[in-house]
Amino acid sequence: MKRIFVCKTGELASGEARKVEVNPAVAVFNVDGVFYAVADRCSHGNASMSEGYVEDDATVECPLHAARFCLKTGAAQCLPATEPLRTFPVAVAGDELYVEIS
Ligand code: FES
Repeated sequence: MKRIFVCKTGELASGEARKVEVNPAVAVFNVDGVFYAVADRCSHGNASMSEGYVEDDATVECPLHAARFCLKTGAAQCLPATEPLRTFPVAVAGDELYVEIS
């Protein structure tokens, strides 16, 4: 497992996302102080989930065709997406945020 530095926790405000340029890219979200990480590429097409719309119920809406995904499980919650997004563990060490990729 590789631990990849994302940013300082204070640099990712609630309701915002950050794209981590690993291969494949990962999108990290802050929802009310809880951090989540999912695959950045939408399971339906070529869209970046880090550019999606974060909702308070820990879901993200794809910016291209508006499929919604649960940030906790990666599950697709509505069409047109049917496949989940891969999820990744996140870790906070001091004031630094990491994503763990295996
Ligand atoms: Fe995301 Fe189509 S690319 S819903």
